[in-house]
Amino acid sequence: MSPYLRLADLEPGEIDRLLALAAEVEANPVSRALAGKVFGLLMLNPSLRTAASFQAGMAQLGGSTVVVQPGAGSWALEFGDGVRMDGATQEHVRDAVPVLSSYVDGLGVRAFAAGASLEADLQDPVIQAMARLCPKPFVSLESAADHPCQALADWRTLDDHEVPKNGGRFVLCWGWHPRPLPYAVPIAAATMAAKRGMEVTVCAPEGFDLPEGALERVRAAGAEPRVFRDPVEACQGAHALYMKAWASPSAYGDPAGHTERVKGLEGWCAEPGWLAGAAPGAVFMHCLPVRRNAEVADTLIDGSASVTLRQAENRLHVQKALLLALLGGRG
Ligand code: CP
Repeated sequence: MSPYLRLADLEPGEIDRLLALAAEVEANPVSRALAGKVFGLLMLNPSLRTAASFQAGMAQLGGSTVVVQPGAGSWALEFGDGVRMDGATQEHVRDAVPVLSSYVDGLGVRAFAAGASLEADLQDPVIQAMARLCPKPFVSLESAADHPCQALADWRTLDDHEVPKNGGRFVLCWGWHPRPLPYAVPIAAATMAAKRGMEVTVCAPEGFDLPEGALERVRAAGAEPRVFRDPVEACQGAHALYMKAWASPSAYGDPAGHTERVKGLEGWCAEPGWLAGAAPGAVFMHCLPVRRNAEVADTLIDGSASVTLRQAENRLHVQKALLLALLGGRG
C-alpha cells in the first residue's frame, strides 16, 4: 500500500476491504496479529484521539508503539532545506525520519499546517516530504490539508447509521471559533462524503467560503459543492450535519485578522433547531475536540442525533484495520 495520505486516493475496493477489516477487529478486538511489530508516532502537534487510539490499537493487536514529540521531550525539528541551523531547531527532519523509521515497522506523522501561506499549505508539502523520507509504511495522522484516518472513521460512522451513499445529503457547516483553524478536517470530511457518493453542501458566513483549492479537492472526489449561508436552509433534507471551524481564506494564519472577522458571528453555534428540516434519522457529526457552546451547543452534541462519540471510537477500529493492512499483510 502507498503512503496513506488521503482517503480520496484509495480505490473503492480498498476502502471496502478496510471497512470489512474494521468490522472484524471490532468483533474480535484482541489478537496477536501484530506481535513483535512496532508503530512509530511522530507527533508535531497535540492529540488526544489520534495518539491514544493508535497506541491502544497496536497494544490490542499484540504490537507496540514508540511516541516521539519534537520540542516536548525530543529535539525540535528543522524542515527547511539547506538552512544553517543556528537557531531554535536542533535536528533536521531529513535525519529524524530515516532514523526513527529504522526502529519501527511503520510510521505515522502528525504535522499541522504551517499557517504562513494558504497556497503552500493546500499543497501539503511537509507530509509529502516526510512520506518520501520514510522507507516504511507511512500514515498521515493529520496534515496541513487532510486527515485521512478521521475520514475513514467518519465513513464508517455514516455506514453504522445507515446514512445513504448515493443521494445522501452531507452538510459541512462552519462554526464559530476563536482561532483561524486550517482546512485539513473540512477537506477530509467533504472529500470523504463526495467519495462515498453523497451530495455535498458547504454552509458558511460571507468571507468564510472554503478556498478554491479545497473545493477542487471535493470536485475531484466526485461532488460539486453547493454553497449556503443559512444553516437551517442548508440542512433541509440533510442526512448528516458535520460542524467544523476554519479560517477565512483572507485571514489565513492571521489570528488578529480572524478575531476581527468572527465578531458578530457568535450565532454560528450549532443547535438542535438547525436540524428541524433534516431527513429522519439525520446525524450530527464533529471530529472533536470541540469548543462546546461556542461551536456546538450542549443540547445538540449531547442529544440523540449526535454520533460524535461513535466517530471517535471508530478511529480505533479503522486504524487497527489500517495497521493490519500495512504491517500485517492483510491489505
Ligand atoms: N479528531 C482528532 O484527530 O482528535 P485529536 O486531535 O485529539 O487526535
